[in-house]
Amino acid sequence: MAQMDTEFGVKGSSIIREWSGQVQPALVASFVFLFCLEACLWVRNLRLKRRLPGPFAWPVVGNAMQLGQMPHITFAKLAKKYGNVYQIRLGCRDVVVLNGDRVIREALIQHSTEFAGRPNFVSFQAVSGGKSMTFSNYSKQWKMHRKIAQSTIRAFSSANSQTKKAFEQQIVAEATELVKIFLKLSAHGQHFNPAHELTVAAANVMCALCFGKRYGHEDVEFRALLEKVDKFGETVGAGSLVDVMPWLQSFPNPVRSMFKNFKDLNQEFFGFIQNKVQEHRETFDPELTRDMSDAIIGVIDKADSDNGLTRGHTDGTVSDLIGAGLDTISTALHWIVLLLAKHPEMQTKLHELIDKVVGRNRLPSVEDRSSLAYLDAFTYETMRFTSFVPVTIPHSTTSVVTIDGLHIPKDTVVFINQWSVNHDPLKWKDPHIFDPSRFLDEEGSLDKDLTNNVMIFSAGKRRCIGDQIAKVEIFLFFAILLHQCSFEKCANEDLSLNCSYGLTLKPLHCKIAAKLRGELLEGE
Ligand code: HEM
Repeated sequence: MAQMDTEFGVKGSSIIREWSGQVQPALVASFVFLFCLEACLWVRNLRLKRRLPGPFAWPVVGNAMQLGQMPHITFAKLAKKYGNVYQIRLGCRDVVVLNGDRVIREALIQHSTEFAGRPNFVSFQAVSGGKSMTFSNYSKQWKMHRKIAQSTIRAFSSANSQTKKAFEQQIVAEATELVKIFLKLSAHGQHFNPAHELTVAAANVMCALCFGKRYGHEDVEFRALLEKVDKFGETVGAGSLVDVMPWLQSFPNPVRSMFKNFKDLNQEFFGFIQNKVQEHRETFDPELTRDMSDAIIGVIDKADSDNGLTRGHTDGTVSDLIGAGLDTISTALHWIVLLLAKHPEMQTKLHELIDKVVGRNRLPSVEDRSSLAYLDAFTYETMRFTSFVPVTIPHSTTSVVTIDGLHIPKDTVVFINQWSVNHDPLKWKDPHIFDPSRFLDEEGSLDKDLTNNVMIFSAGKRRCIGDQIAKVEIFLFFAILLHQCSFEKCANEDLSLNCSYGLTLKPLHCKIAAKLRGELLEGE
């Protein structure tokens, strides 16, 4: 047996040697041929104006290797060379990249329908069993689906004073719990990374809204699920290679493993949602809407309509809302805490303000918001400066469209670089400096014209539908954490702004300590 193996090995290697003698020149010749063909086509299309401006795309990979660690920064750099609308190629897909405030608003607002599509990416179809609203293409059915999701959010957060109060109380309960956990993790002068506790807190607010149930920070299964979901944004963020190089799925490599993990985490997360929604179906009472799941079951499962929405879409909607509301909110809060610890002089100013407006005997509430303009300014500057959703979820064109004098064909993938809007030197003075006071006018009030210029929730037909609840949630978490704690970095160590790229930019290696300021207060 051993001998046969050896013979086979010898034979095999001599065949390979012979073969590689012929294959290597053939490979090189093919590559040169492909390169020349690509170059000729590129020059011809550019001359005939069939192609938008943009860097030369290499055969097979296109510009994938040029994106670097932070694609949004690369996109902004390329815009300086090729203009705010240009084309790149990622693997087999042409992608148009939009940059800068003027062009992006023109596209998303003036041409809202033309830019409202989503690409037919395989990764998008893996989300919520293909029944997600967020990752579906523009259609009559999608419009209906989005309307249902939007009105459900409104019904449970801002429809009337009672729902508003109930929503706020959920957040207060979660924020006071978070304070306790932070203090525990900071015991004996320890520093900790707040990322995971923030995700659990944000997920709990959404689970309370959708299922009427929250989970403990120590719930091992829930933590494990959220840890997996944390990686979701790596695959659906602009520049991910999973969808543009299908041939990478045919042999083992990191992109294939990433896609497999993505499919697994989607299955696990969607399974969790499906179970919960099913429990709701079994105890559904049309006279009593307990939470968002009941409301969505009522309008999709039980409705007698021909809009094409099925039970799968009910599960998909719940999954959309929970998924969208945990990574974004927790990342926003993570950056806020990091920047508070990094800028102690700003933190002191905020502490003085909150003590003056709220006092030390009660927790801050939404009613205090108008008197805490500097706190809102700090939040807007965090959104602008970090642009933690740097590029929106990829869009696609629903018909031919002309933008900035350039024609974009139907079904083209479009990346919208929000970071470039928030760092556009035509809009912002010293965009690379973190300065919350830029949002305050002479009287110290929030300048609404300026805050409207920050782009983090996108715009147009695909604008985030959770923007209002996100703002309330971030305000209350931030105000309560600040009222109760001071945040410190490790002595002699500067907090770095290094982050990982994906749909959201997440701080890396952030270690802080929380100290109680005065008495520990509970919500009502
Ligand atoms: C700070 C928090 C948040 C930020 C920065 C944010 C940002 C975004 C962005 C950039 C998009 C993509 C828009 C596009 O593709 O052009 C989006 C979509 C979406 N967001 Fe948010 N989001 C936040 C919180 C939330 C919350 C709390 C919810 C729901 C409870 C939510 C629900 C959604 C949904 C359903 C979509 C898909 C919209 C569509 O495709 O039509 N988001 N969000």
